[in-house]
Amino acid sequence: MPSLAQPKAMKPEHVAIVMDGNGRWATQRFLPRVAGHRQGVESLRRCVQACTERGIRMLTVFAFSSENWTRPVDEVAGLMGLMSTALANEVASLQRNGVRIRFVGDVTPLSARLRDGLLQAELATAGNQRLLLNVCFNYGGRWDIARAAAALAERGVAITEASLSQELSLSDLPDPDLIVRTGGEQRLSNFLLWQAAYAELYFTEKLWPEFDETELDAAIAAFAQRERRFGGLGPDTPAVQRAA
Ligand code: IPE
Ligand code: IPE
Ligand code: MG
Repeated sequence: MPSLAQPKAMKPEHVAIVMDGNGRWATQRFLPRVAGHRQGVESLRRCVQACTERGIRMLTVFAFSSENWTRPVDEVAGLMGLMSTALANEVASLQRNGVRIRFVGDVTPLSARLRDGLLQAELATAGNQRLLLNVCFNYGGRWDIARAAAALAERGVAITEASLSQELSLSDLPDPDLIVRTGGEQRLSNFLLWQAAYAELYFTEKLWPEFDETELDAAIAAFAQRERRFGGLGPDTPAVQRAA
């Protein structure tokens, strides 16, 4: 008797998120924008936990863009302070949950104390294998590509797709399968420009502080419905037929 079982739903291995909407979440509640960012950290903690429970191996989040320096100084200072506090408070729970944290971005303009905090968190969690959490902080896709090209040029290496992608910040990982953006905007805002080439994009109106397990499941379910073709004709067309 033929099996009626549905093919197993595809699960993304690498999920990336533009965590947008913190400021609007706060403004709606007559709170200062930094209160939204604080709530955003809570939301990230919940999301990391949910990803570990769902067997997602890699999560890459956009926490601060190269362009976010153009915000008012008190908001930037609030975000820097929040990162320091989060580092101090969260490393123990990352350890408990088997989460390895890595930071991606230009650390040079950050304070020595913050740089040290980032490094210590990376070292403390380096042996964890359940989930790899990449936090893009002072990150921009253009920064990453330009930096990689400059590194190759300095070594006199020819710039090819292969050599350039090997120089990029996330070169040791597969490209994200799914990029989620919360907060209703439908743009990448300089996130993972190179790596997004064949990612499935998922946009939700939910503001980042409101993004919970149900929202994550909705994004994963939407991903499972997509047919990824990578420029080919898809899995239903045998290669011989495609070549003919
Ligand atoms: C995303 O939330 C967090 C950062 C960019 C640091 P926003 O601060 O951009 O929130 P909105 O988009 O103004 O609501
Ligand atoms: C993208 O959000 C950056 C982060 C979520 C860290 P922005 O709020 O900075 O993006 P734009 O300005 O709306 O494009
Ligand atoms: Mg925003």
